[in-house]
Amino acid sequence: MLDYHTLLARLGEGSAHPGGFQATKELIGQIGFPRGTKVLEVGCGTGRTACYLASLGCNVTAIDRNEDMIQKAIYRAKISEFPVRIVQADAASMPFPDETFDAVFTESVTAFTQGSSAIREYWRVLKPKGVLYDRELAFAMKLTTVQKKKLQSFYGLQHLRTVPEWLKLMSKSSFHKYSASQFSQMKQLMSDNDPLRVIDHELFTKPDVVAMMMKNERLMSNFSKVMGSVVITAWKA
Ligand SMILES: C[S@@+](CC[C@H](N)C(=O)[O-])C[C@H]1O[C@@H](n2cnc3c(N)ncnc32)[C@H](O)[C@@H]1O
Repeated sequence: MLDYHTLLARLGEGSAHPGGFQATKELIGQIGFPRGTKVLEVGCGTGRTACYLASLGCNVTAIDRNEDMIQKAIYRAKISEFPVRIVQADAASMPFPDETFDAVFTESVTAFTQGSSAIREYWRVLKPKGVLYDRELAFAMKLTTVQKKKLQSFYGLQHLRTVPEWLKLMSKSSFHKYSASQFSQMKQLMSDNDPLRVIDHELFTKPDVVAMMMKNERLMSNFSKVMGSVVITAWKA
């Protein structure tokens, strides 16, 4: 049986987070990174956002833990001819010196880690005055143990946090200042035509994989009222 991230990688999913690529472009538009900003994307998946940031003139490094994701991200960067440095690495232990980046950008990744160790790493690799932008899965209310188990076992999530729980996690970090957007309910993801998506079509012939995709649909639909996202912004002193 595949794990959830390997399934996403094999499906070539380019924007596997609440709000999809549209939300990513809006957030990046609001941030307005100056050309040459050294950005680290953590959990880059198939590299779509990393390439987009590079197309805007950012100096981009992207990491992901999953080998299949890394291969697709390398392919995307090569085809699109954007100079993205792509490294296979874990968010909780990154192979970069302290104070390397102006910004860390990450979407739907920290929730898959213990949280505190990844946030410590984001802080460590940021330069003084560097900023973290983290869009994460969040819940409108605390879930029951049974609900949590269902989501954690399928998605491999470590924690299912409400917005106040995300803020509590940030309060234990070394970030000088942080803020969170309001909870935003998960919108139905529209297929937004990723021209460089590479799908492993063989997947659709495997009954266990098809069952997994159907379970994903079911979970998304069952939890649609309580599942959503938050954008955390945090500043290093
Ligand atoms: C839900 S996907 C989101 C991918 C991408 N950020 C996007 O929005 O399309 C989560 C990604 O985080 C990666 N990931 C999960 N845990 C990680 C970790 N500890 N270190 C690095 N990458 C991780 C997974 O391999 C996967 O590519």
